Amino acid sequence: MLVEVKGLTAGYGKKTVIRDIHLTVDDNEIVAIIGPNGTGKSTLLKALYGAIKPTNGEFYYCGRNITGRNPGMNAHDGISYISQGANVFPDLTMEQNLLMGGYTIKDKSKVNERIQQVYELFPALKGRKGSRARSLSGGERQQLAFGMGLVCSPKLIFSDEPSIGLAPAIVKTLMRTIKQVKEEMGTSVLIVEQNAKEVLRIADRVYVMKIGKITNEGPAEKFNTPEELKKVYLVEE
Ligand SMILES: Nc1ncnc2c1ncn2[C@@H]1O[C@H](COP(=O)(O)OP(=O)(O)OP(=O)(O)O)[C@@H](O)[C@H]1O
Ligand SMILES: [Mg+2]
Repeated sequence: MLVEVKGLTAGYGKKTVIRDIHLTVDDNEIVAIIGPNGTGKSTLLKALYGAIKPTNGEFYYCGRNITGRNPGMNAHDGISYISQGANVFPDLTMEQNLLMGGYTIKDKSKVNERIQQVYELFPALKGRKGSRARSLSGGERQQLAFGMGLVCSPKLIFSDEPSIGLAPAIVKTLMRTIKQVKEEMGTSVLIVEQNAKEVLRIADRVYVMKIGKITNEGPAEKFNTPEELKKVYLVEE
């Protein structure tokens, strides 16, 4: 078991947003979290990555309790976090951004090797090595953000809404690439997605989150019908 989350509770200041979350991610597994807006999906990833401190519960990674550890330590330990809204350094070039993705790795030849792999996965990036990130299209920037998350050879990727704002054809390519990353690099991915239909094509398992709680879970096939998907986005008062 790569990830085991037990009873995680977190929020902002006095406001609790997610409560008593239990979930697991296996080695070489893509696990999706889907659910309505504002239910705490991003908050969950932030609490796991260490951007905010959980108020209760535990996060075990490779059998070790690393709850509330700082993001730098997590990056060093093979966990990548690709936040919602494609955070890149706008004034750096594409290639400089990718190099930043490998800042925790001392062996720079490994970093360069990994950057070449990123170009193979995202051919659209290859021709724009020298372009400043600010001049990239939304889709290219999203792919760059994902590529940056791959340069440190992560064992685990937390990806928050990678498809947001992308054209349908690019969403399909990105999803295929995420699956390829799992298959070729053995990386596990915990992915939050609004685009349930597309993420269900690549996910092994799914958790449904509503108003800060996990309300349903199961293999991706279980949710892949119009009736089930409708239930995912229905918020009962
Ligand atoms: N920095 C913050 N400070 C205070 N409250 C916040 C902060 N970030 C998010 N929240 C609140 O926490 C709740 C959950 O937000 P979160 O971003 O985790 O939801 P989400 O499920 O990721 O939504 P979306 O699908 O729109 O991305 C919301 O009520 C939001 O207003
Ligand atoms: Mg979010």
